[in-house]
Amino acid sequence: MLMDIAAVRDAYRRYAKVYDIVFGGVFALGRRRVIREVNRRGGLRVLEVGVGTGLSLPAYRSDNRIVGIDVSPEMLEIAERRVAKHALGNVESLHNMDAAALTFPDGSFDVVVAMFVMPVVPDPEGVMAELRRVCKPGGYIYIVNHFQQETPGLRYHAERVLSHFSNWLGWHADYKLKGLLDIAKVELTAMHVVPPFGWFRLLEFRNVRSTRSDEGWESSGEAAATGAQI
Ligand SMILES: C[S@@+](CC[C@H](N)C(=O)[O-])C[C@H]1O[C@@H](n2cnc3c(N)ncnc32)[C@H](O)[C@@H]1O
Repeated sequence: MLMDIAAVRDAYRRYAKVYDIVFGGVFALGRRRVIREVNRRGGLRVLEVGVGTGLSLPAYRSDNRIVGIDVSPEMLEIAERRVAKHALGNVESLHNMDAAALTFPDGSFDVVVAMFVMPVVPDPEGVMAELRRVCKPGGYIYIVNHFQQETPGLRYHAERVLSHFSNWLGWHADYKLKGLLDIAKVELTAMHVVPPFGWFRLLEFRNVRSTRSDEGWESSGEAAATGAQI
């Protein structure tokens, strides 16, 4: 079932006040893992799409400049308060903007980050195209989120049931890894399983054209699913 931006805004208007309590903890390790990758280098300009309530913002190193965007004004309002509270001088700006229609010029950022966002956006292909466009050639795109379990089991069936409530939940419980890889069109350089319970995966892409063929991808995918660098 497809969501639209109005449904996303509705869902996150409902979640905003309780978001940090409900989703702060379960996504914390994924966020920390991505920021650890980004923080390996300084002097970067970083775009965080779907920045939400800005839970990640205090964790970026101070010599990187961070720009955040989100479609939910209520989530952004909390992010703005967090920036003020922690006096985060490295947060350049926060914008109410659709990740599928970014207003930044091509190649504006060294690194682009999307944490727990891709299963939420109504137009993942449009979003991926924008992430590629605003990331400098050779820059990095980090994506972390939940993907549908591929083999039948309790979680697989629960995700199928939940997928009928995407509009209300505000995300697609049946979001598929292969779906993202098919639209990425950039080089997948690493994939890691992220706790808790191996629910999440972190994907690192280098912003150069992907050369993967379907057969080539299958073997990389198996290696990557173990958490190895590929
Ligand atoms: C599950 S929350 C994740 C928030 C944050 N990244 C985190 O780690 O807690 C998903 C966020 O993506 C935002 N979002 C959904 N679709 C979007 C879009 N097309 N453009 C920008 N933000 C979007 C939602 O408003 C929400 O704040």
